[in-house]
Amino acid sequence: MMENYQTPRGTQDLLPETTRKWQKVEDLIRNLCDVYGYEEIRTPVFEDTRVFKRENDSSDMVNKEMYTFSVHGEDSLTLRPEGTAGVVRSFVQHKMYGRLEMPAKLYYMGEMFRYERPQKGRYRQFNQFGIENIGMKSPLIDAEVIALGYSIVKALGLSQVKVLINTLGDDASRTAYRGALREHFKDSVGELCADCQRRYEQNPLRLLDCKVDSEHPSMQNVPSLQQYLTPESKDYFDQVLAALDALEIPYEIDDKLVRGLDYYTHTVFEVVSTHPESGSQATVFAGGRYDGLVEYFGGPQMSGVGFAMGLERLMILAEAEEVALGEEESLDVYVMALGQVGTLPLELATQCRAAGYHTEFNIQPRSLKAQFKSVDRRKAKVAVIAGESEAANHQVNVKFIDQQRQITIDQDELITTLDAYFQQEGEEQA
Ligand code: HAM
Repeated sequence: MMENYQTPRGTQDLLPETTRKWQKVEDLIRNLCDVYGYEEIRTPVFEDTRVFKRENDSSDMVNKEMYTFSVHGEDSLTLRPEGTAGVVRSFVQHKMYGRLEMPAKLYYMGEMFRYERPQKGRYRQFNQFGIENIGMKSPLIDAEVIALGYSIVKALGLSQVKVLINTLGDDASRTAYRGALREHFKDSVGELCADCQRRYEQNPLRLLDCKVDSEHPSMQNVPSLQQYLTPESKDYFDQVLAALDALEIPYEIDDKLVRGLDYYTHTVFEVVSTHPESGSQATVFAGGRYDGLVEYFGGPQMSGVGFAMGLERLMILAEAEEVALGEEESLDVYVMALGQVGTLPLELATQCRAAGYHTEFNIQPRSLKAQFKSVDRRKAKVAVIAGESEAANHQVNVKFIDQQRQITIDQDELITTLDAYFQQEGEEQA
Protein backbone atom coordinates (compact mmCIF):
# COMPACT_ATOMS: atom_id res chain seq x y z
CA MET A 1 0.00 0.00 0.00
CA MET A 2 1.08 3.53 -0.74
CA GLU A 3 2.21 5.55 2.27
CA ASN A 4 0.55 8.83 3.12
CA TYR A 5 3.44 11.15 2.52
CA GLN A 6 3.54 14.46 4.36
CA THR A 7 5.77 17.51 4.10
CA PRO A 8 9.11 16.84 5.84
CA ARG A 9 9.39 18.16 9.39
CA GLY A 10 10.02 21.89 9.46
CA THR A 11 8.75 22.52 5.92
CA GLN A 12 5.36 23.60 4.67
CA ASP A 13 3.23 23.76 1.55
CA LEU A 14 1.99 27.21 0.67
CA LEU A 15 -1.41 26.82 -0.95
CA PRO A 16 -2.97 29.35 -3.33
CA GLU A 17 -4.89 31.21 -0.61
CA THR A 18 -1.50 31.77 1.03
CA THR A 19 0.71 32.36 -2.03
CA ARG A 20 -1.77 35.05 -3.07
CA LYS A 21 -0.88 36.94 0.11
CA TRP A 22 2.82 36.24 -0.28
CA GLN A 23 2.78 37.69 -3.77
CA LYS A 24 1.22 40.90 -2.47
CA VAL A 25 3.96 41.20 0.11
CA GLU A 26 6.68 40.30 -2.39
CA ASP A 27 5.38 42.98 -4.78
CA LEU A 28 5.46 45.56 -2.00
CA ILE A 29 9.03 44.55 -1.14
CA ARG A 30 10.20 44.64 -4.77
CA ASN A 31 8.66 48.08 -5.24
CA LEU A 32 10.39 49.50 -2.20
CA CYS A 33 13.71 47.93 -3.24
CA ASP A 34 13.30 49.63 -6.57
CA VAL A 35 12.62 52.98 -4.90
CA TYR A 36 15.77 52.54 -2.79
CA GLY A 37 17.83 51.51 -5.81
CA TYR A 38 18.38 47.83 -4.94
CA GLU A 39 18.51 45.29 -7.76
CA GLU A 40 17.82 41.60 -7.54
CA ILE A 41 20.54 38.98 -7.45
CA ARG A 42 19.87 35.22 -7.64
CA THR A 43 22.60 32.90 -6.44
CA PRO A 44 22.51 29.08 -6.22
CA VAL A 45 20.61 27.37 -3.43
CA PHE A 46 23.75 25.34 -2.67
CA GLU A 47 27.35 26.46 -2.50
CA ASP A 48 30.75 25.00 -1.76
CA THR A 49 30.55 24.27 1.98
CA ARG A 50 33.52 26.55 2.63
CA VAL A 51 31.49 29.55 1.48
CA PHE A 52 29.51 29.20 4.72
CA LYS A 53 31.97 27.35 6.95
CA ARG A 54 34.78 29.78 7.41
CA GLU A 55 37.74 28.82 9.54
CA ASN A 56 37.12 28.80 13.27
CA ASP A 57 33.50 29.89 12.91
CA SER A 58 31.78 29.67 16.28
CA SER A 59 28.14 30.13 15.27
CA ASP A 60 25.44 27.49 15.81
CA MET A 61 24.28 28.00 12.27
CA VAL A 62 27.59 26.81 10.85
CA ASN A 63 28.40 24.21 13.48
CA LYS A 64 25.05 22.49 13.94
CA GLU A 65 22.43 23.56 11.50
CA MET A 66 23.78 23.09 8.00
CA TYR A 67 22.48 20.62 5.43
CA THR A 68 25.79 19.43 4.06
CA PHE A 69 26.21 16.69 1.48
CA SER A 70 28.49 15.37 -1.14
CA VAL A 71 27.40 13.60 -4.31
CA HIS A 72 29.50 10.96 -6.09
CA GLY A 73 32.53 11.83 -4.05
CA GLU A 74 32.65 15.41 -5.28
CA ASP A 75 33.48 18.38 -3.03
CA SER A 76 31.22 19.02 -0.08
CA LEU A 77 28.19 21.20 -0.81
CA THR A 78 25.80 22.92 1.60
CA LEU A 79 22.24 24.15 1.17
CA ARG A 80 22.44 27.85 1.93
CA PRO A 81 21.52 28.62 5.56
CA GLU A 82 21.55 32.36 4.77
CA GLY A 83 22.08 34.68 1.83
CA THR A 84 24.94 36.99 2.72
CA ALA A 85 27.87 34.62 2.14
CA GLY A 86 26.66 33.59 -1.34
CA VAL A 87 26.03 37.20 -2.36
CA VAL A 88 29.48 38.32 -1.23
CA ARG A 89 31.02 35.29 -2.98
CA SER A 90 29.22 36.39 -6.14
CA PHE A 91 30.25 40.04 -5.67
CA VAL A 92 33.88 38.93 -5.67
CA GLN A 93 33.56 36.22 -8.35
CA HIS A 94 32.09 38.69 -10.83
CA LYS A 95 34.39 41.52 -9.72
CA MET A 96 31.42 43.78 -9.14
CA TYR A 97 33.76 46.08 -7.26
CA GLY A 98 35.35 46.97 -10.60
CA ARG A 99 32.26 47.19 -12.77
CA LEU A 100 29.60 48.97 -10.80
CA GLU A 101 29.45 52.30 -9.19
CA MET A 102 29.92 51.66 -5.51
CA PRO A 103 28.18 50.63 -3.39
CA ALA A 104 26.64 47.59 -5.04
CA LYS A 105 23.03 47.42 -3.84
CA LEU A 106 21.66 43.92 -4.13
CA TYR A 107 18.57 42.16 -2.88
CA TYR A 108 17.42 38.56 -2.91
CA MET A 109 14.41 36.47 -1.99
CA GLY A 110 14.49 32.76 -1.60
CA GLU A 111 14.62 29.57 0.41
CA MET A 112 17.15 29.03 3.17
CA PHE A 113 17.77 25.79 5.06
CA ARG A 114 18.69 25.28 8.69
CA TYR A 115 18.46 22.13 10.74
CA GLU A 116 16.69 23.67 13.74
CA ARG A 117 13.98 22.45 16.10
CA PRO A 118 10.81 23.53 14.30
CA GLN A 119 8.22 25.67 16.04
CA LYS A 120 5.91 28.50 15.07
CA GLY A 121 8.01 31.01 13.15
CA ARG A 122 10.99 28.65 12.92
CA TYR A 123 11.34 26.19 10.07
CA ARG A 124 13.97 24.04 8.42
CA GLN A 125 13.16 25.47 5.04
CA PHE A 126 12.17 29.12 5.21
CA ASN A 127 12.24 32.19 3.01
CA GLN A 128 14.32 35.26 3.44
CA PHE A 129 14.17 38.58 1.74
CA GLY A 130 17.56 40.21 2.22
CA ILE A 131 19.63 43.14 1.01
CA GLU A 132 23.38 43.64 0.86
CA ASN A 133 24.98 47.03 0.36
CA ILE A 134 28.63 46.30 -0.47
CA GLY A 135 31.65 48.42 -1.27
CA MET A 136 31.42 51.51 0.92
CA LYS A 137 31.46 52.18 4.61
CA SER A 138 29.41 54.99 6.08
CA PRO A 139 27.11 55.36 9.08
CA LEU A 140 24.62 56.88 6.63
CA ILE A 141 24.46 53.59 4.75
CA ASP A 142 23.88 51.61 7.94
CA ALA A 143 20.95 53.90 8.75
CA GLU A 144 19.67 53.75 5.17
CA VAL A 145 19.67 49.94 5.25
CA ILE A 146 17.68 49.90 8.49
CA ALA A 147 15.33 52.50 7.00
CA LEU A 148 14.53 50.27 4.03
CA GLY A 149 13.65 47.29 6.24
CA TYR A 150 11.69 49.51 8.55
CA SER A 151 9.75 51.11 5.70
CA ILE A 152 8.74 47.65 4.41
CA VAL A 153 7.39 46.68 7.81
CA LYS A 154 5.55 50.00 8.07
CA ALA A 155 4.22 49.91 4.50
CA LEU A 156 2.77 46.53 5.29
CA GLY A 157 0.90 48.14 8.16
CA LEU A 158 2.70 46.47 11.06
CA SER A 159 2.77 48.83 13.99
CA GLN A 160 4.06 46.75 16.87
CA VAL A 161 7.78 46.54 16.10
CA LYS A 162 10.89 47.95 17.66
CA VAL A 163 14.47 48.36 16.50
CA LEU A 164 17.21 47.00 18.77
CA ILE A 165 20.69 48.15 17.90
CA ASN A 166 24.22 47.68 19.14
CA THR A 167 27.78 47.94 17.92
CA LEU A 168 30.44 45.26 18.01
CA GLY A 169 33.09 47.85 17.16
CA ASP A 170 36.22 47.18 15.15
CA ASP A 171 38.69 44.30 15.62
CA ALA A 172 40.56 46.08 18.39
CA SER A 173 37.35 46.74 20.33
CA ARG A 174 36.26 43.13 20.09
CA THR A 175 39.66 41.73 21.00
CA ALA A 176 39.66 43.86 24.15
CA TYR A 177 36.10 42.84 24.94
CA ARG A 178 36.75 39.12 24.41
CA GLY A 179 39.52 39.40 26.97
CA ALA A 180 37.15 41.07 29.41
CA LEU A 181 34.51 38.36 28.87
CA ARG A 182 37.04 35.56 29.42
CA GLU A 183 38.01 37.25 32.65
CA HIS A 184 34.37 37.65 33.69
CA PHE A 185 33.41 34.02 32.97
CA LYS A 186 36.65 32.36 34.04
CA ASP A 187 35.29 31.01 37.36
CA SER A 188 31.83 30.07 36.10
CA VAL A 189 32.60 28.60 32.67
CA GLY A 190 32.64 25.09 34.15
CA GLU A 191 28.98 25.48 35.18
CA LEU A 192 27.84 26.52 31.72
CA CYS A 193 26.57 24.24 28.94
CA ALA A 194 28.97 22.32 26.69
CA ASP A 195 28.38 24.78 23.86
CA CYS A 196 29.28 27.68 26.11
CA GLN A 197 32.50 25.96 27.09
CA ARG A 198 33.42 25.72 23.41
CA ARG A 199 32.31 29.34 22.91
CA TYR A 200 34.46 30.47 25.85
CA GLU A 201 37.53 29.24 24.02
CA GLN A 202 36.51 30.05 20.48
CA ASN A 203 34.59 33.32 20.71
CA PRO A 204 33.30 34.40 24.14
CA LEU A 205 30.98 36.95 22.48
CA ARG A 206 28.79 33.95 21.59
CA LEU A 207 28.22 33.32 25.32
CA LEU A 208 25.86 36.29 25.37
CA ASP A 209 23.75 34.59 22.71
CA CYS A 210 23.23 31.33 24.65
CA LYS A 211 19.60 30.33 25.06
CA VAL A 212 20.37 27.62 27.65
CA ASP A 213 22.38 29.66 30.12
CA SER A 214 20.72 33.05 29.74
CA GLU A 215 19.45 32.87 33.35
CA HIS A 216 22.75 31.73 34.87
CA PRO A 217 23.94 34.17 37.58
CA SER A 218 27.16 34.80 35.66
CA MET A 219 25.07 36.28 32.83
CA GLN A 220 24.14 39.13 35.15
CA ASN A 221 26.45 42.15 35.34
CA VAL A 222 28.42 41.02 32.29
CA PRO A 223 30.81 43.80 31.26
CA SER A 224 29.40 45.91 28.47
CA LEU A 225 31.10 46.09 25.09
CA GLN A 226 30.51 49.84 25.12
CA GLN A 227 33.33 50.22 27.64
CA TYR A 228 35.81 48.55 25.28
CA LEU A 229 35.04 50.46 22.12
CA THR A 230 37.87 52.33 20.48
CA PRO A 231 37.09 56.05 20.06
CA GLU A 232 36.66 55.54 16.29
CA SER A 233 34.16 52.73 16.83
CA LYS A 234 32.20 54.75 19.34
CA ASP A 235 32.15 57.72 17.01
CA TYR A 236 30.94 55.52 14.12
CA PHE A 237 28.10 54.16 16.24
CA ASP A 238 27.10 57.65 17.43
CA GLN A 239 26.83 58.73 13.82
CA VAL A 240 24.58 55.75 12.99
CA LEU A 241 22.31 56.68 15.88
CA ALA A 242 22.27 60.34 14.83
CA ALA A 243 21.20 59.31 11.33
CA LEU A 244 18.39 57.15 12.73
CA ASP A 245 17.30 60.11 14.87
CA ALA A 246 17.28 62.31 11.78
CA LEU A 247 15.06 59.77 10.00
CA GLU A 248 12.83 59.56 13.09
CA ILE A 249 13.30 55.82 13.37
CA PRO A 250 12.90 54.90 17.04
CA TYR A 251 15.42 52.41 18.46
CA GLU A 252 16.66 50.93 21.71
CA ILE A 253 20.32 50.30 22.35
CA ASP A 254 20.74 46.71 23.51
CA ASP A 255 24.31 46.20 24.61
CA LYS A 256 23.88 42.42 24.83
CA LEU A 257 22.92 42.12 21.19
CA VAL A 258 25.75 40.24 19.48
CA ARG A 259 23.82 38.33 16.74
CA GLY A 260 24.24 34.66 15.92
CA LEU A 261 26.66 34.91 13.01
CA ASP A 262 30.39 35.47 13.19
CA TYR A 263 31.03 37.97 10.41
CA TYR A 264 29.68 41.12 12.03
CA THR A 265 31.69 44.22 12.88
CA HIS A 266 30.38 47.61 14.04
CA THR A 267 26.60 48.02 13.71
CA VAL A 268 24.28 45.09 14.45
CA PHE A 269 20.51 45.30 14.72
CA GLU A 270 17.36 43.26 15.12
CA VAL A 271 13.84 44.44 14.51
CA VAL A 272 11.45 42.55 16.76
CA SER A 273 7.71 42.37 17.06
CA THR A 274 6.14 43.28 20.37
CA HIS A 275 2.84 41.64 19.40
CA PRO A 276 1.86 38.96 21.95
CA GLU A 277 1.29 36.36 19.21
CA SER A 278 4.82 36.65 17.85
CA GLY A 279 6.02 34.43 20.71
CA SER A 280 9.63 33.42 21.00
CA GLN A 281 10.42 33.88 17.29
CA ALA A 282 9.81 37.60 17.28
CA THR A 283 12.70 38.84 15.14
CA VAL A 284 11.30 40.02 11.82
CA PHE A 285 14.55 41.18 10.30
CA ALA A 286 18.10 41.39 11.46
CA GLY A 287 21.52 42.22 10.16
CA GLY A 288 24.60 44.33 10.47
CA ARG A 289 27.89 45.42 8.99
CA TYR A 290 30.68 43.08 7.95
CA ASP A 291 34.18 44.38 7.32
CA GLY A 292 36.02 41.17 6.49
CA LEU A 293 33.84 39.08 4.17
CA VAL A 294 34.79 40.58 0.80
CA GLU A 295 38.44 40.03 1.58
CA TYR A 296 37.75 36.50 2.81
CA PHE A 297 36.39 35.65 -0.62
CA GLY A 298 39.47 37.08 -2.28
CA GLY A 299 38.23 40.59 -3.04
CA PRO A 300 39.65 43.92 -1.95
CA GLN A 301 39.30 45.27 1.58
CA MET A 302 35.72 46.46 1.31
CA SER A 303 32.95 46.61 3.82
CA GLY A 304 29.29 45.68 3.47
CA VAL A 305 26.07 45.91 5.43
CA GLY A 306 22.70 44.24 5.08
CA PHE A 307 19.83 42.44 6.70
CA ALA A 308 17.52 39.52 6.09
CA MET A 309 13.84 39.34 6.82
CA GLY A 310 12.04 36.08 7.56
CA LEU A 311 9.05 36.06 5.23
CA GLU A 312 7.15 33.39 7.19
CA ARG A 313 7.51 35.56 10.29
CA LEU A 314 6.41 38.64 8.41
CA MET A 315 3.27 36.78 7.31
CA ILE A 316 2.55 35.51 10.83
CA LEU A 317 2.73 39.07 12.13
CA ALA A 318 0.64 40.46 9.28
CA GLU A 319 -2.02 37.94 10.27
CA ALA A 320 -1.70 38.73 13.98
CA GLU A 321 -2.05 42.44 13.30
CA GLU A 322 -4.93 41.69 10.92
CA VAL A 323 -3.38 43.35 7.89
CA ALA A 324 -5.65 42.82 4.86
CA LEU A 325 -3.75 41.01 2.12
CA GLY A 326 -4.69 39.54 -1.22
CA GLU A 327 -8.39 38.80 -1.34
CA GLU A 328 -9.36 36.27 -3.98
CA GLU A 329 -9.54 38.15 -7.26
CA SER A 330 -12.89 38.48 -8.97
CA LEU A 331 -13.28 37.49 -12.61
CA ASP A 332 -13.79 39.96 -15.41
CA VAL A 333 -15.51 37.47 -17.67
CA TYR A 334 -17.17 34.09 -17.33
CA VAL A 335 -17.99 32.32 -20.59
CA MET A 336 -21.09 30.15 -20.37
CA ALA A 337 -22.01 27.37 -22.79
CA LEU A 338 -25.54 26.39 -23.81
CA GLY A 339 -26.14 23.39 -26.08
CA GLN A 340 -23.70 21.91 -28.60
CA VAL A 341 -21.17 24.69 -29.01
CA GLY A 342 -18.01 22.58 -29.16
CA THR A 343 -14.80 24.51 -28.66
CA LEU A 344 -16.46 27.95 -28.84
CA PRO A 345 -16.35 28.72 -25.06
CA LEU A 346 -12.62 27.93 -24.98
CA GLU A 347 -12.02 30.06 -28.09
CA LEU A 348 -13.94 33.03 -26.65
CA ALA A 349 -12.16 32.70 -23.31
CA THR A 350 -8.81 32.61 -25.10
CA GLN A 351 -9.70 35.81 -27.00
CA CYS A 352 -10.72 37.53 -23.75
CA ARG A 353 -7.52 36.40 -22.03
CA ALA A 354 -5.41 37.59 -24.94
CA ALA A 355 -7.02 41.00 -24.44
CA GLY A 356 -5.99 40.86 -20.77
CA TYR A 357 -9.31 39.95 -19.17
CA HIS A 358 -9.30 37.58 -16.23
CA THR A 359 -11.53 34.87 -17.70
CA GLU A 360 -12.92 31.40 -16.94
CA PHE A 361 -15.25 29.26 -19.01
CA ASN A 362 -17.77 26.52 -18.36
CA ILE A 363 -16.26 23.11 -19.05
CA GLN A 364 -18.83 20.38 -18.50
CA PRO A 365 -22.48 20.64 -19.66
CA ARG A 366 -24.49 22.26 -16.85
CA SER A 367 -27.82 24.01 -16.50
CA LEU A 368 -28.07 27.74 -17.06
CA LYS A 369 -28.83 28.14 -13.37
CA ALA A 370 -25.74 26.22 -12.28
CA GLN A 371 -23.59 28.29 -14.62
CA PHE A 372 -25.00 31.56 -13.28
CA LYS A 373 -24.11 30.30 -9.81
CA SER A 374 -20.49 30.13 -10.95
CA VAL A 375 -20.77 33.67 -12.33
CA ASP A 376 -21.98 34.71 -8.91
CA ARG A 377 -19.42 32.79 -6.85
CA ARG A 378 -16.52 34.04 -8.96
CA LYS A 379 -17.93 37.58 -8.86
CA ALA A 380 -17.63 37.84 -12.64
CA LYS A 381 -18.54 41.27 -13.99
CA VAL A 382 -19.55 40.06 -17.42
CA ALA A 383 -21.12 36.77 -18.56
CA VAL A 384 -20.52 35.84 -22.17
CA ILE A 385 -23.11 33.27 -23.20
CA ALA A 386 -22.23 30.99 -26.11
CA GLY A 387 -25.61 29.58 -27.18
CA GLU A 388 -26.24 27.10 -29.97
CA SER A 389 -28.59 29.24 -32.09
CA GLU A 390 -26.50 32.43 -31.73
CA ALA A 391 -23.35 30.46 -32.58
CA ALA A 392 -24.90 29.40 -35.89
CA ASN A 393 -25.00 33.14 -36.80
CA HIS A 394 -21.52 33.88 -35.40
CA GLN A 395 -23.18 35.75 -32.59
CA VAL A 396 -22.93 35.66 -28.83
CA ASN A 397 -24.88 37.05 -25.86
CA VAL A 398 -23.17 39.37 -23.39
CA LYS A 399 -24.66 40.09 -19.99
CA PHE A 400 -23.36 42.98 -17.84
CA ILE A 401 -24.07 41.65 -14.40
CA ASP A 402 -24.27 44.86 -12.32
CA GLN A 403 -26.55 46.51 -14.89
CA GLN A 404 -28.69 43.38 -15.40
CA ARG A 405 -28.42 44.24 -19.11
CA GLN A 406 -27.99 41.66 -21.89
CA ILE A 407 -27.14 42.26 -25.54
CA THR A 408 -26.52 40.09 -28.59
CA ILE A 409 -23.48 40.95 -30.70
CA ASP A 410 -21.34 39.50 -33.48
CA GLN A 411 -18.58 37.33 -32.10
CA ASP A 412 -15.92 39.53 -33.65
CA GLU A 413 -17.27 42.52 -31.71
CA LEU A 414 -16.71 40.82 -28.38
CA ILE A 415 -13.44 42.45 -27.42
CA THR A 416 -14.45 45.99 -28.47
CA THR A 417 -17.68 45.53 -26.49
CA LEU A 418 -15.76 44.41 -23.41
CA ASP A 419 -13.21 47.21 -23.82
CA ALA A 420 -15.98 49.82 -23.95
CA TYR A 421 -17.68 48.39 -20.88
CA PHE A 422 -14.55 48.06 -18.75
CA GLN A 423 -13.26 51.47 -19.78
CA GLN A 424 -16.51 53.09 -18.72
CA GLU A 425 -16.49 51.10 -15.48
CA GLY A 426 -12.93 52.21 -14.79
CA GLU A 427 -13.86 55.86 -15.33
CA GLU A 428 -16.83 55.60 -12.99
CA GLN A 429 -14.61 54.16 -10.28
CA ALA A 430 -11.95 56.86 -10.72
P1 HAM B 1 19.70 35.78 10.71
O1 HAM B 1 19.48 36.57 11.95
O2 HAM B 1 20.30 34.45 10.87
O3 HAM B 1 20.57 36.69 9.75
O4 HAM B 1 18.32 35.61 9.96
C1 HAM B 1 17.58 36.74 9.55
C2 HAM B 1 16.10 36.49 9.72
O5 HAM B 1 15.72 35.29 9.04
C3 HAM B 1 15.64 36.24 11.14
O6 HAM B 1 15.47 37.46 11.84
C4 HAM B 1 14.32 35.53 10.91
O7 HAM B 1 13.31 36.48 10.60
C5 HAM B 1 14.61 34.70 9.70
N1 HAM B 1 14.96 33.31 10.09
C6 HAM B 1 16.15 32.84 10.49
N2 HAM B 1 16.08 31.51 10.76
C7 HAM B 1 14.80 31.15 10.53
C8 HAM B 1 14.09 29.91 10.62
N3 HAM B 1 14.68 28.77 11.00
N4 HAM B 1 12.77 29.91 10.31
C9 HAM B 1 12.15 31.06 9.92
N5 HAM B 1 12.77 32.25 9.81
C10 HAM B 1 14.07 32.30 10.12
C11 HAM B 1 20.99 36.33 8.50
O8 HAM B 1 20.57 35.38 7.91
C12 HAM B 1 21.97 37.30 7.89
N6 HAM B 1 22.36 36.77 6.58
C13 HAM B 1 21.37 38.66 7.78
C14 HAM B 1 22.29 39.65 7.15
C15 HAM B 1 22.26 40.10 5.87
N7 HAM B 1 23.30 40.23 7.74
C16 HAM B 1 23.92 41.01 6.88
N8 HAM B 1 23.30 40.92 5.74
